Order: sequence, then structure tokens, then C-alpha cells
Amino acid sequence: MRTEREQELLLKALDAFNKRILIISKDFRIEAAVGLDQRLGDRTLKGEYCYVAFFNRDAPCFNCPAKKVLATGSFAERNIVSDPLEEDKRSCLFAYPIHKDGEIEAITIFTFDTPVLEGLEEELRRTNSFLYKLLQSACDGFIATDLTGKIIIFNDAAVEVTGYSVKEALDSLNIRAIYEGDGAREVMRNLRSDEYGGKGKLKKYQIMAVGRSGEKIPISLYASIIFDEKGKEAGSIGFFHDLRERIHIQKKLEKTQLQLIHSEKMASLGRLSAGVAHQLNNPLGGITLYTKLMLEDYDLEDNAKEDLNRILKDAQRCRDTVRELLTFARQTNQFMKPQNINKAIDQTLFFIQNQTLFHNITVRKKMEPFIPLVLADTQQLSHVFMNIIINAAQAMDGNGAITITTEEAATKDKVIVEIMDTGPGISAENLEHLFDPFFTTKEEGEGTGLGLSVVYGIVENHGGTITARSIPGRGSTFTLEFPIIHETEKGAEHAEYA
Ligand SMILES: Nc1ncnc2c1ncn2[C@@H]1O[C@H](COP(=O)(O)OP(=O)(O)OP(=O)(O)O)[C@@H](O)[C@H]1O
Ligand SMILES: [Mg+2]
Repeated sequence: MRTEREQELLLKALDAFNKRILIISKDFRIEAAVGLDQRLGDRTLKGEYCYVAFFNRDAPCFNCPAKKVLATGSFAERNIVSDPLEEDKRSCLFAYPIHKDGEIEAITIFTFDTPVLEGLEEELRRTNSFLYKLLQSACDGFIATDLTGKIIIFNDAAVEVTGYSVKEALDSLNIRAIYEGDGAREVMRNLRSDEYGGKGKLKKYQIMAVGRSGEKIPISLYASIIFDEKGKEAGSIGFFHDLRERIHIQKKLEKTQLQLIHSEKMASLGRLSAGVAHQLNNPLGGITLYTKLMLEDYDLEDNAKEDLNRILKDAQRCRDTVRELLTFARQTNQFMKPQNINKAIDQTLFFIQNQTLFHNITVRKKMEPFIPLVLADTQQLSHVFMNIIINAAQAMDGNGAITITTEEAATKDKVIVEIMDTGPGISAENLEHLFDPFFTTKEEGEGTGLGLSVVYGIVENHGGTITARSIPGRGSTFTLEFPIIHETEKGAEHAEYA
């Protein structure tokens, strides 16, 4: 039993404690209160129902902890109702039974009716949840880490880019594993420097991340250091954007631009060539005709005949060049038909293989027997193969091997032809200009440098592509691709090649 003095001091201590405490009877009437004005306006609290006095209700609050105390006989706290608009959430927070002879005599309640605190608490909860949702639904990846690099926030976009799940990231992933090599250290070093958007900040920084399955992901990163109230580093945050798609599109665009420039160059050269060729054609015809007439009509000395024959030969060479120029300038395909590319190659080889240049050259054919048809002008196609094969033979000085391969692409939309030689190869510098008109490494008078540019124009007109690769000293390979036509009488045109 406490002495009167003890009881008096305890009561004073409760007052000094200055917390709101309420004692109610089992039927919810206020018996005593501490830290509360004993009067509310004109009303005296004592004897009032607590739910009337504080909440102006006509029955105990639905989530009243005192009700639980009465039901269970022990301490209870109010369920926090998550919906902030739920009116009934306003009620007391904690309740304890006061026993007498093993029975509940009254109930004491703490921290009740604290609308300001509750409002703040709710506001905080709402703000936190809003901020979390904001980061979670951001389009860019978002990662926050503590000082050790442990990940504490990892949003949906970060999951999408890296392939890690949120659980994996939060449980076991360190930020160091997200960057390639020493990337995390590099980011921190730059964050602490002044050069990338101010101290503690990193803006639009391109770096390589590594996905869950090891794939490298170029990213653009905006990062900041988090400082605590004392200005000490507490962690870091980073927003990042996957650059793979953008880089892919950029590369495609650059390639298209180069192709466009090349096509434009070809087209204007084509127009120029056509003009020059037409101008030269008539006088050349005249030179050839009159030289022939002189040779036939006059009884000339051998020396004069020799000179005239030389004139005739040179004039014919000029005529061949003019013809090349005209082919180069021709923009339309007038004789397009479904063609078997194997047949076109065989016909070309038939024409050139008997030339002395080919006597010491082995031609190997690795043709796919059933090759789909392509839409092509047979003469132009022969011209293409002839130019490439003669170039190869010339490069090998008539000694070596040429391997011709044909196959249907795995994508089933094109036919691929590869012409490979064992010649000296082409330097990287020359490869860049290979298809430029008038590019030649041959002696003056031996090559016009138009061969491959004509080939390029023809292949392009057929909707195809041509590329060359080479390892100097180990030969060159030309790869041509032509789109397949599907709707034709494949069977009839097919030829089998061993
Ligand atoms: N298979 C090859 N191996 C090595 N170099 C090659 C090969 N094919 C082409 N070249 C190089 O490319 C240049 C350009 O070839 P292109 O056919 O356009 O002109 P050219 O052969 O010099 O002249 P033209 O074809 O008018 O007689 C050649 O001079 C040669 O240097
Ligand atoms: Mg050539």
C-alpha cells in the first residue's frame, strides 16, 4: 500500500508529466483527466461520455482501444486506418485496464484526440507514399544507395533496364555490380569533383552498366550525393536512361546519311558522265570509221598501217570506256526478269574462263543447289560478276584461286553471293574509296577506275547491297546481297549445281 504522501507525489508527478491522460469507466464516462482542461467550453468533462465530449459521437468510436480492453482484459492500441479520408480514424491511441480485485475497474487512455499530431503523422505518411510512388513510376531508372553502396531504392524502370528484381537488388546487390569494371568508383570520383555540374552532382554522364545476364548497357546518368544535416555524405542517388535504342538509331541514321551522300555523288557523276559520254561517242565513231576506211581504201606503207591500227585500237578502248560510262549513268532497269543467280554466275564464268588471264587460276564454286530467284537484268548481273572476277584475277596477276559461294540468307529474304580471292588484298584506306568512280591503283591506261562504281550502281538499282572486306596479304572478299522474289515459278528456273 502506498502512503498518502506517495500517492500525493505520484499525482503531482502525473501532472508534471504533462501528457494527456484520461480515465474512463467501463461505460465510457470520464472519471478523471490529466493534462486536459477539466472543462470543455461550458461543459465539465467529468461524468461525460468520452465519445460525446471529444468526438461528438453518439456511440463509442468504432476502433476505440478501450472497447478492446474491455473485450480482452489487457492493453490495446488503436488500429491505424490507412485511408486518410476515413473519418472514424480519429479516436484514442492506447488504452490500459485498471484492475480492482481481479476485475476491470476503469480504463486509462493516453494520447487521445490529437488532431494536429494525427494530421502531421498522416501528412508524413501520405508524402512518403507519394514520393515513393513518384520514384517508382518514373520513366527513368532510379537507384538510391547508402554510403556502403547498398541499394535502398530500386524502381521499376531500373528493373526493366538491368533485369534485376527489386528484391534481388535490395537484398544482395551492391551498386558496384551495376557498373562495368571500376565504374562505381569513377562515378563517385566525378561526383566529388567540380567538373560535371558542380560538387556532389553529375549530369548527363555516359557510362556502361552491366545487366543481370552480363549484357553491357550504355546509360546516361544524372547522379547526386545525399548529404545529412551536418553536411556529411550519407549516400547517393542516380537517375539513368538506357541509351541502347538511341545509339542503334543514331548508327542507322549515320549509315543512311553516308549512303545518301554516296548515292547523290553517284547520281551527279552519272549525269555528268552521260553528258561527256554522249559528246565523245560521235567523234569516236568518226575516228574509228575513217581509220578503218583509210586502212581499206589506201595502199599504205606498213609503218602507216601500224600507226593507223594503233589509232584504231586506242579509239576502241575509248569507246569501251564511253560504254562503261553510259552503263554507269543508266538509271532504269529495262529487262528485269526472275533470274537464277547460279546460272548468271556460270554464264559469266563461261565467257571469261578461256581468257589467258585465267589459265593459272582455280575457280571453286560452292553454290547452294536450290537458290531462290531474284529480279534482275541478266546482262547487268553478268556485268557485275565479270567486273569483280576480272578485278580479282588482275589483282592475283593471273595466279591463285577464286571461290564463289551462293546461299539463301538465314532470314530467307535475300540471296548472298561471296566472291573471294587469294590476291594481295586491299588496304583499309583503299577500301574506303573502292566504289568511288575513277578510283584505281592501276597504271594509267590500264584501268579507268569505273568498274566497281558501275557495279555499285547496278547492285543498288537491283535493291541489293555490295560490301568488300580484306585482310591485306590474305586476299579480298566481295559480298553481294539481292532481295528474293517469292511468287515465281521457282521449280522451272532452278538448276542444280554440284
Ligand atoms: N579483288 C581485288 N583485290 C585487290 N584490289 C582490288 C580488287 N578489286 C578491286 N581492287 C582495287 O580496286 C580498284 C578499283 O577497281 P575498279 O574495278 O573500280 O577499277 P579498276 O579495276 O582499277 O579499273 P577498270 O575496272 O576500269 O579496269 C582497283 O584499281 C584495285 O586497286
Ligand atoms: Mg576493274
